[in-house]
Amino acid sequence: MARTVLLTALLALVSCIPAPAAASCGLPCTIDGVLGSKLSPLASIVHSTLAAPRWSEYDAPTPGTVVNVGTEEDVQTTVQYCNDHNISFLAQGGGNGWGDTFTLGNQGLIINLRGIRNIEFNADKTAVTIQGGTIIRELVAAAYGNSTQVSTGNCNCIGVLGSTLGGGYGRLMGLYGMSVDNLLSMNVVTAHGDAITITPGDQDLWWALRGAGANFGIVTSATMRAYPVPQAQNGAWLGPLIFTPDQIPALVTAINGLTLTGQMSIFMYFTTAGPPDYTPTVIAIPFYLGPPNEGEAAFASIFAVGPVSNMTAFTPYDQLNEGSESFCVAGGRKPSYAAGVAQLDPHAWVTIYDKYVDFLKTPGVQNTTVLMEYYPSPRADAFNVASSSYAFRSSIKMNAIVNTAYVDSSLDPVAESFGSSVRNLWRSSSGLPQNDTYINYANGDEPLVSIYGDNVPRLQQLKQQYDPSNRFNQWFPLY
Ligand SMILES: Cc1cc2nc3c(=O)[nH]c(=O)nc-3n(C[C@H](O)[C@H](O)[C@H](O)COP(=O)(O)OP(=O)(O)OC[C@H]3O[C@@H](n4cnc5c(N)ncnc54)[C@H](O)[C@@H]3O)c2cc1C
Ligand SMILES: *[C@@H]1O[C@H](CO)[C@@H](O)[C@H](O)[C@H]1NC(C)=O
Ligand SMILES: *[C@@H]1O[C@H](CO)[C@@H](O)[C@H](O)[C@H]1NC(C)=O
Ligand SMILES: *[C@@H]1O[C@H](CO)[C@@H](O)[C@H](O)[C@H]1NC(C)=O
Ligand SMILES: *[C@@H]1O[C@H](CO)[C@@H](O)[C@H](O)[C@H]1NC(C)=O
Ligand SMILES: *[C@@H]1O[C@H](CO)[C@@H](O)[C@H](O)[C@H]1NC(C)=O
Repeated sequence: MARTVLLTALLALVSCIPAPAAASCGLPCTIDGVLGSKLSPLASIVHSTLAAPRWSEYDAPTPGTVVNVGTEEDVQTTVQYCNDHNISFLAQGGGNGWGDTFTLGNQGLIINLRGIRNIEFNADKTAVTIQGGTIIRELVAAAYGNSTQVSTGNCNCIGVLGSTLGGGYGRLMGLYGMSVDNLLSMNVVTAHGDAITITPGDQDLWWALRGAGANFGIVTSATMRAYPVPQAQNGAWLGPLIFTPDQIPALVTAINGLTLTGQMSIFMYFTTAGPPDYTPTVIAIPFYLGPPNEGEAAFASIFAVGPVSNMTAFTPYDQLNEGSESFCVAGGRKPSYAAGVAQLDPHAWVTIYDKYVDFLKTPGVQNTTVLMEYYPSPRADAFNVASSSYAFRSSIKMNAIVNTAYVDSSLDPVAESFGSSVRNLWRSSSGLPQNDTYINYANGDEPLVSIYGDNVPRLQQLKQQYDPSNRFNQWFPLY
């Protein structure tokens, strides 16, 4: 691979040299030759959007160039090249971001971070350093192998840093805090193309990166807290409980009435039983970071609703995300709509279920899912509202999401209309006045105040200071 790149770079150079590069060679050729010759041997440059596949192709970026970096230095080199040549760029980690704020045209460039994914624990396993392209599957496997836990999201395919830089919701946040609360330091390439280390002493960027990260830099590696747990105990009790549609009001009321301790969380899904009939199905998945008897006791009010099926079990830490693998399947169109809520309204959820069943009658959309995630508040004592730029710690209690899924773009209007009408029902019953929405679940059509809350003015002022040319302008841009 290294040789091919080198050869391509050389050929490009050769074909470019005789005439002024821009005139005879064109942009792609210049990049191959000039940037290619500065990158590490492990890097490659490809002129195809297909080179960096994404979870959703709906409103996805369509770059003319993908730079697959091989080292952290390659990220800096590429940003400097783009700055020198006025090329728009976007970092890509796991490629799962579904927000539709991407405006990267075919003159734009994706810096694909997946080639840098080293993971290194410290000697006493209290900290782990991961590179920018690491996905959750890789970190969880290494954490389990090293008898530790790390506060990450719950789906194996997502970028550890992509999810972290927006806040980072996950099932361990009740004990350890959100992912942003667990960062110890970050190596960052700035808008000016500098490579710097950011620690809590760098007050402005430390605050801004942890919640609005994609607007302030590319994190090439970061050190996070790890929590040692003996391997035999390193797991949790969880699993699907299936309910009938007529039980929705009782189920929603029971979930709403739960007070979650740090070990608990619960999800609810409207999904289907799969092919060939795609029968609509109501599922709750309780989770307890501890033994089954304690989990069952903690969720007694949910069992009391009378699930028709119970598949809960104690599950090792490295297998906890396996139930959500079907959400990770990449490709196709998945316009998604979400709202933060402070409460669940049983009437709204019954209406949403009816809308869901109706929507499923459209051929091709049967993998669409409606879900709700209820996590415990992160240790408020340790991580106060002002400690990071994630704005909604004290307002959002649950996140509600519609992930539509289909292949044919002619279904876009019907999917958009379904998604936004469901979101309206959440918003009007959320108990939150400003449609607060977690950035990593948001659609992209929200006003900035719904994404960054009261932090908009300070974030915009810091943006002027640290990224005056608005180089990081693709992910819920601050202006
Ligand atoms: C199946 C699925 C499950 C999910 N589960 C969870 C969950 O449990 N918890 C949760 O909090 N979120 C979850 N999310 C949302 C997730 O946090 C966002 O989709 C997030 O943007 C994904 O990051 P990524 O690196 O995979 O995506 P990308 O599209 O690669 O990145 C998203 C944005 O982050 C930026 N970015 C990525 N890496 C870096 C970096 N190293 N430095 C700077 N900027 C970077 C990118 O430039 C882009 O703007 C889920 C999403 C999906 C699709
Ligand atoms: C840089 O590119 C943008 C479009 O991507 C263009 O609007 C702007 O004028 C360019 N600036 C310079 C200095 O060429
Ligand atoms: C433990 O972590 C190291 C990185 O520090 C990693 O290389 C190794 O594979 C991990 N061990 C196991 C058994 O997963
Ligand atoms: C749920 O299922 C598990 C595993 O079969 C079983 O041990 C447990 O008793 C069941 N709990 C209830 C409340 O039905
Ligand atoms: C749903 O997803 C599965 C797994 O990716 C796929 O095989 C199936 O064809 C999809 N169904 C529809 C209706 O898109
Ligand atoms: C919240 O969303 C609803 C429905 O989309 C909209 O009517 C309302 O104006 C929004 N409120 C704010 C403060 O943005």
